[in-house]
Amino acid sequence: MASPESTESGGDGHDGGLHAPSHWAAAAAAAEAAETADADADANDSGLDSASTTTSSASISSSILEYRIIHGRTYHADRGGAQYWASNDDQANETLDLIHHASTLSLGDKLHLAPLDRPRTRRVLDLGTGTGIWAVDFADEFPAAEVTGTDISPIQPSWVPPNLKFEMEDFTQAWTFREDEFDYVHMRYLYGSVTDWAGLFRQAYRACAPGGWVESYEGSPTLLSDDGTLEEGSAMAEWGKFFYEGARKLGRVFSPLPDHLQERYMEEAGFVDVQVSTMKVPVGDWAKNPRLKEIGRFIQLSVETDLEGIVQFMAGLLEGWSPEDIMLYGAQLRREFRAKKTHAYYLQRVVWAQKPETASKS
Ligand SMILES: C[S@@+](CC[C@H](N)C(=O)[O-])C[C@H]1O[C@@H](n2cnc3c(N)ncnc32)[C@H](O)[C@@H]1O
Repeated sequence: MASPESTESGGDGHDGGLHAPSHWAAAAAAAEAAETADADADANDSGLDSASTTTSSASISSSILEYRIIHGRTYHADRGGAQYWASNDDQANETLDLIHHASTLSLGDKLHLAPLDRPRTRRVLDLGTGTGIWAVDFADEFPAAEVTGTDISPIQPSWVPPNLKFEMEDFTQAWTFREDEFDYVHMRYLYGSVTDWAGLFRQAYRACAPGGWVESYEGSPTLLSDDGTLEEGSAMAEWGKFFYEGARKLGRVFSPLPDHLQERYMEEAGFVDVQVSTMKVPVGDWAKNPRLKEIGRFIQLSVETDLEGIVQFMAGLLEGWSPEDIMLYGAQLRREFRAKKTHAYYLQRVVWAQKPETASKS
């Protein structure tokens, strides 16, 4: 059984190998045979069919609408240094919004853990804003702040609070913002999109005003259990491996959490008072605590909403995975989720830190 301790030390699966695609065809056939046997056994009990079951903004501005299409799903335009592993279509965006709900719940209905001083929080940056759902909520909660959300995909709504704007900006390039421009720099779920985490936090430090805060919220894609219910070789146990293996091919880092990159590089950049909050996030509604149960329900729903879309881009980078293989793997994963036998969770970590009041311009 994998344990949270092994994750903490970095051995959370991001070094392990993934089963070959043929494994999931065999698993699907075995599961179907078992389901047929079960269905035959209680055919009289149920009428249900078993099937029911350059500079950063300039380099991309002209190309952002040229989405790439892979197996019928759209991905951001392939330009400059940016590479993002998930789709940017409606199905993927719905997933982001579901995860936002679970993430906010996991922080006790808060949008941030940094101790923001409201009158001093005038200019706010949300890096890799996605659908902008966090930025919209933040702008509503801090009406006196000017909030900027950046991304490489133009998937943000146009009907937003008047104190919020979105900009197309690639955070892997030199940022176009002025030194000391923001009182708060927020980034969430940038795993797999960043090549140089140290450089990211150096740029955040430069853009942050003295006394301002940076906050980074990340998760580990590896599923774990504390009671042995997550079986070695199951689809759930393999989930994280797609991301680690795919990210390796992309030259991106998917392990900010197990490798402690958030806290390490914030400190290295010059931020002080670095604070860390790590939490186990349940997948599925198995937890007894009602809040955790709701979080788990939303996380499972978000994964199921776009399972193939999430895996597709990464699996497509690996040897030998056809769209059919991905579907078979996805079917097995759904089956395992719905069987509700696994008390699975993953780790999330929020790290926040302050730029010293006394920091001088470089
Ligand atoms: C997993 S989503 C998270 C979205 C949002 N932060 C949230 O928590 O709802 C990651 C986002 O980062 C964006 N992204 C990836 N690489 C980027 C880059 N180089 N520059 C700017 N945004 C990027 C993606 O387009 C995507 O919208």
